[in-house]
Amino acid sequence: MNLAAVVLAAGIGKRMKSRVPKVLHPVLGRPMLSYVIDAVRGISPRKIVVVLGRGRDDVKESLGQVGVLFAEQKVQLGTGHAAGSARNALAGFKGNILILNGDFPLITSKSLNNLVKKHIDGSADVSFLTADIADPSGYGRVLRNVKGGVEKIIEDKDASPVEKKITEINSGTYCVKSGFLWEALKGVGSGNRQKEYYLTDIIEIARKKSRKILGVKSRDGSEALGVNDRAQLSEVEALLRKRINDSLMRAGVSMVDPGTTFVSPDAKIGADTLIYPNTYIYGNTVIGAGSSLGPGVWVQDSVLGKGVTVRLSSYISNCKIGDNVTVGPFAHIRPEAEIMDGAKIGNFVEIKKSRIGSGSKVPHLSYIGDAVIGKDVNIGAGTITCNYDGFRKHETVIEDDVFIGSDTMLVAPIKVGRGATTGAGSTITKDVPEGALAIGRAKQTVIENWSRKPREGKGKK
Ligand code: UD1
Ligand code: CA
Repeated sequence: MNLAAVVLAAGIGKRMKSRVPKVLHPVLGRPMLSYVIDAVRGISPRKIVVVLGRGRDDVKESLGQVGVLFAEQKVQLGTGHAAGSARNALAGFKGNILILNGDFPLITSKSLNNLVKKHIDGSADVSFLTADIADPSGYGRVLRNVKGGVEKIIEDKDASPVEKKITEINSGTYCVKSGFLWEALKGVGSGNRQKEYYLTDIIEIARKKSRKILGVKSRDGSEALGVNDRAQLSEVEALLRKRINDSLMRAGVSMVDPGTTFVSPDAKIGADTLIYPNTYIYGNTVIGAGSSLGPGVWVQDSVLGKGVTVRLSSYISNCKIGDNVTVGPFAHIRPEAEIMDGAKIGNFVEIKKSRIGSGSKVPHLSYIGDAVIGKDVNIGAGTITCNYDGFRKHETVIEDDVFIGSDTMLVAPIKVGRGATTGAGSTITKDVPEGALAIGRAKQTVIENWSRKPREGKGKK
């Protein structure tokens, strides 16, 4: 199949009232545009051209995807002009060109495939995806003749009151024969309410030239929903969330309240995992079977094993957690932390770029940064790895079976040997050999009969 795709993403996105380009606004933690590109990738076109304008460097950076070509639309003169901006990138290409808006993240590869298939099977010159939706306001309407053939697309702003009543809308997804596309675009003018070059005009041009047009109605109207403002963004996100959560629940994941459970389409969650409300599972996160998360937990781009418990108000990002680990409540597990099987991270604990060996415990109020901690270590409450001297970060090494007393300051670089102990309240500045006890605190002094007695005539009022 000789197919290329053009994604229109150069629009200003005025209605978003944002400094961020519209197509970068996130839906479940991922830019809106990336969903459209994924759907396109799913049907394997020869080339994908993304037309960018405002904020193009930010868009390119955020996509960071290989195999996508970029074209620039310097001034945003409308969707017809935007499609024309992809012409150089497709020089020499002959076949069908799929053109889509970058602002409708619910579109699926299945629908795109269906459109392309109908277009080819029907030997059409131009086909486009339509949908019947309850509230068509804002969309271009599909005008059909008495026989059901498509006559034209009329934009909301240009539609008469009668035309505005039409509920069949244009989703902004077209499959066009390349020869006809470039020829038709030459005929698109800007004589409309918005003074823009409308891509939608190619339909009327096709009709006037007696070319074959197919308006393919999608079964699931939600796929056609575009995002022009933030209210629509939240509606689309809610629909996507439902789509993802329903499929997870059918695969054996329990959600106490799917309405307040936010899972990225890239996340994988094992069966018998229970998710409490207000929990976010974003990015490429993997969670093993039989785990429990929440309420109020955020997990981003992390891999969690089986039987993991993450309790109330914990935040986990870019780290690796083994099987049967417990985290929280109120824990902060920062990038490059690795918590091995059976370890326990308790309340008010922050772990950064550290490995915590299997069976080790950091149960209360600690900061562990740039540390390598062995197996079966106990870190007492209030322990801090003093990893930063104001200039550089230094490493703390704690070997297997160490017992760190409560409120120990470990001034890095430092090493505590296997089986060693530190006394509570110690500031440890020198390495501790295997099996030793290190105490680094002022000796207690006791001064007898120190209590202040009220002196006569003073202290009393
Ligand atoms: C467009 C369609 C409308 C359809 C709707 C579906 C036109 C004229 N109208 O309207 O029929 O019902 O989508 O959601 O096409 N863009 C550019 N350069 C531009 C202008 C827009 O790249 O100069 C891009 C935008 O980034 C966006 C897409 O094209 O991704 C659609 O533009 P938008 O302004 O949102 O069009 P709508 O008014 O929604
Ligand atoms: Ca739009």
